[in-house]
Amino acid sequence: MRPLEAESALRSGYFGAYGGAFVPEILAPKLLDLAREFEAALADPAFMAEYRSLLRDYVGRESPLYLARRLSAEIGATVYLKREDLNHTGAHKINNTLGQGLLARRMGARKLIAETGAGQHGVATATVAALFGLECTVFMGAEDARRQAPNVERMKLLGAEVLTTDAGTGTLKDAVDAALGHYIENPDVFYCLGSAVGPHPYPSIVRRFQSVIGEEARRQILEKEGRLPDACFACAGGGSNAIGLFSAFLDDEGVELYGAEGGGTDVAGLRTAATLTRGKPTVFQGSYSYCLVDDSGNPVDAYSISAGLDYPGIGPEHAMLKDSGRVAYEPVMDDEAVAAFRRLSRLEGIIPAIESAHAVALAEKRLAGSGRLAIINLSGRGDKDLGRF
Ligand SMILES: Cc1ncc(COP(=O)(O)O)c(C=O)c1O
Repeated sequence: MRPLEAESALRSGYFGAYGGAFVPEILAPKLLDLAREFEAALADPAFMAEYRSLLRDYVGRESPLYLARRLSAEIGATVYLKREDLNHTGAHKINNTLGQGLLARRMGARKLIAETGAGQHGVATATVAALFGLECTVFMGAEDARRQAPNVERMKLLGAEVLTTDAGTGTLKDAVDAALGHYIENPDVFYCLGSAVGPHPYPSIVRRFQSVIGEEARRQILEKEGRLPDACFACAGGGSNAIGLFSAFLDDEGVELYGAEGGGTDVAGLRTAATLTRGKPTVFQGSYSYCLVDDSGNPVDAYSISAGLDYPGIGPEHAMLKDSGRVAYEPVMDDEAVAAFRRLSRLEGIIPAIESAHAVALAEKRLAGSGRLAIINLSGRGDKDLGRF
């Protein structure tokens, strides 16, 4: 999406046919306020200066663009890793929570709430709440709390309350339902949403705060290689790290863009989180976008080995980019991701988050023997996944 189109989505809430704000009446004025305040913040040099200085001094940006020589040799291509895993708290999520935390403070909120799947967004929200002296409650599915236990400990240590829900499959969709329910009953809290999903203006807000990934990566590859990459790869759960990287390259027709979805174990049989591959346009959790549905058109639970990709929805901009063909979205199966998780650890001494390993696996397939130049977004580190596979 070009900058002008991004601006128009910020005003209208629509990315082509997708997006909007399908919410109960009580939330509509709250979201309008948020959209207005976000636009004002973007135009406020003091706000943006504080955001940038925190990204530098607190998060440790810019994150390196690292030439992965042994991985490149193995694949037969020139592969750079955008090291979001090196950010404070271990993933890209902090780029967004810092921005939203500053917005919350600007709007006078005293409490942040958030949903989390892999726990990275929960940790990043709890971190920012501590930094700004705000209260924090994080909603998490019971299954995710089990498989991402180290992150539950982190959130608690940071002073957040972690509320687990047993509803559904105890995964991200159920955590979002719980957080939205709490927001409807307590509209004075600030809902710090973790991906480029949900009702307007969240997809635009999250896109903007994650676009730093693509801005840096574009500049860094030009510095290092003197040209743009042939291809960029990112995993897509709700789609925030992917749109953060892709946003800087959408106008560059020569740059192929690939989104790796959580394939799970059976895409045709719906034991999958491959929303754009297998889903249909539907209103789900406040927005019109692709969603995994049953034969009657009702949203169903997703499945992926990766808690961060285990979500039946996807951000509305990705729905548009799929339809237009600008981005190719492909499922990566659980076993392929685990193999890439191990391979990157052995080849480069970098243990990736299992989410990011999906992007690595797709890059291995699409680049094999091609000699092409590519960037893979390494959205997070794998400490949370140790001992799981
Ligand atoms: C490390 C990591 N990468 C990717 C994701 C997927 O989210 P998104 O698609 O919004 O980037 C998550 C979600 O928790 C994550 O923790």
